[in-house]
Amino acid sequence: MPQQEVITFSLNGKVVEVPKGTTILQAAGGAGVEIPHLCYHPYLSVAGNCRMCMVEVEKSPKLVISCATPAAQGLVVRTDTPTVKKAVRGVLEFLLINHPIDCPVCDQAGECKLQDYYMAHGLHESRITLSEKVRKRKALDLGPIVLDSERCVLCARCIRYLSEVTGTNELGFFERGDRTQISAFLDSKVDANSYAGNLADICPVGAITSKDFRFRCRVWFLKGTPAICPECSTGCNMRVDHRNREVYRFVARLNPYVNKTWLCDAGRFSYKNLNGPERLLYPMVRKDGAFSRESWAACMSGISRRLKDSAVSGSKPVAILSTRMTNEELFLAKKVILGIGGTVAALNLTGGNPSSMEDFLLRRKDHTPNTTGAQKLGLELLSGEMETKDFLGRLDKSRFSLLVTDEPAVLRECGTNLPLTIALATHRNASISEADIVLPMATHVEREGTLTNFEGRVQRTEQSFPPPGEARSAIDIISGLSGALGMNLNPGSVESVFSLLAKECSAFSGLAYENLGEYGSLVKTT
Ligand code: SF4
Ligand code: FES
Repeated sequence: MPQQEVITFSLNGKVVEVPKGTTILQAAGGAGVEIPHLCYHPYLSVAGNCRMCMVEVEKSPKLVISCATPAAQGLVVRTDTPTVKKAVRGVLEFLLINHPIDCPVCDQAGECKLQDYYMAHGLHESRITLSEKVRKRKALDLGPIVLDSERCVLCARCIRYLSEVTGTNELGFFERGDRTQISAFLDSKVDANSYAGNLADICPVGAITSKDFRFRCRVWFLKGTPAICPECSTGCNMRVDHRNREVYRFVARLNPYVNKTWLCDAGRFSYKNLNGPERLLYPMVRKDGAFSRESWAACMSGISRRLKDSAVSGSKPVAILSTRMTNEELFLAKKVILGIGGTVAALNLTGGNPSSMEDFLLRRKDHTPNTTGAQKLGLELLSGEMETKDFLGRLDKSRFSLLVTDEPAVLRECGTNLPLTIALATHRNASISEADIVLPMATHVEREGTLTNFEGRVQRTEQSFPPPGEARSAIDIISGLSGALGMNLNPGSVESVFSLLAKECSAFSGLAYENLGEYGSLVKTT
């Protein structure tokens, strides 16, 4: 690989080294010096229109905008001089001339760059009265987003995103001078765009807000936990924003190798599946056609007894796991089932609306997050209902017990004619009525672990909050089962399951849970 040329320059008196081509703004960010900016976005072209990022460069007659000025050898740059501070204050006053200053009722408050910069660099008295301000269109419903043109700082991030990333060009600037405002062409909407939710993330102010999230919770009450989107095999990085064990939204999280700073709307709004009233809160056993509540201890000893009884009569357990499960859950379940002489496979159901199956940006045809992980762990992969039918058809149904994980299609396919059917499920659905025992499982935001995306990138997903009621993580359920079966696995933490997995599975060898890094690590390809 050719060596990249390195530039050395001075930033606020400190020597900084960056690859040639890096702008002063990017170099400063890397060196921990924050330069205020509104129109710059790392994955959009440079517009240079907000003028917030001005810095002083020695021998330059005027201030320069750091987002459009590359660092050069020997350059002497200062971001903290009185001239720079005065310029930033002046730009802020200019940007706020016609702004409604409605932070107390604006849903962006708390995560608004304009508000933050005013508090850090502005704090000026306005010289414009409210009646002198230019009024523009407010609260325009554009589908998944709501537009307030009065709050817009005309940075054009949204326009560049729709032109350069999605190529759909729904928004543009209209009018001229201080009447300029952002709007949709011919008053249309952006609801046909399956990546419209990103607009709320990239608008630095309260001009574009998410219709789904606005006014539901002030952002300073929310706690953010890093996670991986479960909706397809891309494995986009996202943040789960939650409060009091309720998820309020998913927002994109930076990963330059996977999703940059984008999320598709299917992933972004999938949090709604979590908050349903049909959540399973305690173990249940079916007696005389109806489910009744049971304790974990009774369920585990019942399962163990029945598996042992059926083993005496020559019956084998079969586990149909899911490619939604983490690497650690799949590894541990496989170990336990094989340890008692059973058979294991992983089911990948890539159902859904065919028109949203796959697209040019992020969304992949495989709508589960860990198919590659299941393959790398050596599990037989059942792709779709036909293969599952074939797999089940190969087994003598009168002679096996079945353990399934939140895959209703398997239960539907098997019917009720098995000696014992155990379902691990998060929500109540029609298919669990086919199970003999239902064990309530944590959802993907209630457990931690790793997922391997389609290109083999192993990424960590963290637990936002513990599961409700008596629900348990799949790791805890499988560990409990192994204990009840007399196996001395004692897996301990997810981290120790991962290190066991890395020892036993060659694709993962050399990887360590704590060293996977912010952006994940690739598994071995051979
Ligand atoms: Fe920038 Fe937001 Fe205005 Fe678009 S709506 S130009 S992103 S401030
Ligand atoms: Fe540089 Fe806007 S961030 S001009």
